[in-house]
Amino acid sequence: MPFGLVSSWSKRRGKKSKDHSDPWVYKPVEFWQLEDQTPHATKKHHGSSVFTLKEMEDATCSFSDEHMVGKGGFGRVYRGTLRSGEVVAIKKMELPPFKEAQGEREFRVEVDILSRLSHPNLVSLIGYCADGKHRFLVYEYLQNGNLQDHLNGIGEVKMDWPLRLKVAHGAARGLAFLHSSSAVGIPIVHRDFKSTNILLNANFDAKISDFGLAKLMPEGQETYLTARVLGTFGYFDPQYTSTGKLTLQSDVYAFGVVLLELLTGRRAVDLSQGPSDQNLVLQVRHIMNDWKKLRKVIDPELNRSSYTRESIATFANLASRCVRIESSERPSMIECVNELQMIRYTNSRALGMPLHTFKIVK
Ligand SMILES: Nc1ncnc2c1ncn2[C@@H]1O[C@H](COP(=O)(O)OP(=O)(O)O)[C@@H](O)[C@H]1O
Ligand SMILES: [Mg+2]
Repeated sequence: MPFGLVSSWSKRRGKKSKDHSDPWVYKPVEFWQLEDQTPHATKKHHGSSVFTLKEMEDATCSFSDEHMVGKGGFGRVYRGTLRSGEVVAIKKMELPPFKEAQGEREFRVEVDILSRLSHPNLVSLIGYCADGKHRFLVYEYLQNGNLQDHLNGIGEVKMDWPLRLKVAHGAARGLAFLHSSSAVGIPIVHRDFKSTNILLNANFDAKISDFGLAKLMPEGQETYLTARVLGTFGYFDPQYTSTGKLTLQSDVYAFGVVLLELLTGRRAVDLSQGPSDQNLVLQVRHIMNDWKKLRKVIDPELNRSSYTRESIATFANLASRCVRIESSERPSMIECVNELQMIRYTNSRALGMPLHTFKIVK
């Protein structure tokens, strides 16, 4: 049995039902093993807890509105306190019946993959609840919510340039870890990287969340042909959407879109704009290497004294390479990590910020 977690879940739920046609009831592992994802696991999961529905209700005062912190495609997210006193984020699956099978699949992928990953720039999964038809994911609670809210003025803290660089650098490190084989033995494509899936802790360290669409890349393969294109509008790699071929570079494209959001403060897709101006990449891609035009799209909220022209120009150049149409022309995530580290360093040095606050990270 390749996945320890799957195995324990199978044992727990195995006696409950023998019906293998309903996606909501127990299926032995071979029925829902992620296709073509023969894992070559090198790491064991580090102990996700299994919770009951009652524990989820107790933690959130029965999912009261005061505990709600957000809502996404899977359902609502609540802030909760476990019996141990630990404060957590609880994501409750609330899907219409026609989406339940897809939701169940995403739930299992999330538990399966995330419970085996440990990195300072990936959100930690504390546990899950699969009680009858109820499904919950329990994560570490990240006090500063998601990046998009901060860029769009909902968050209380205005993000200056060094803070944005820190977030970009942290998120790049998280993605680079996923893309390396050090995570589970083979590379993982996240497939839903976006600014609402970058969560921020009290210290504004970036942590990537939502692994329900993640895909383990079959060994030795650089592309994976998918029947359906999944992800979020505004972040879709044009090569993936036109050919169905998923690569690690699809995440690099989405990462480039987030860099553009950090630079301009605009949304990846802004439906309040006219049809030709809704897509951020299409709006700004062609001006990233032209300083006169570039300076006009820098987020007006950015404190002018927090950035140098050089750091903005180098950052914009990196963003423009990440969103290239041809996926082979995009940099790797490791290259992004190294370039962002250098940009952080030169920006803080030029502004006379104390260098001891800048830690070189490997
Ligand atoms: N671990 C967490 N800690 C704090 N807030 C969270 C956490 N997970 C999710 N949230 C909040 O709940 C919102 C909804 O999350 P989600 O269901 O993943 O949808 P989406 O990614 O589309 O925003 C997030 O945007 C974020 O603000
Ligand atoms: Mg999310």
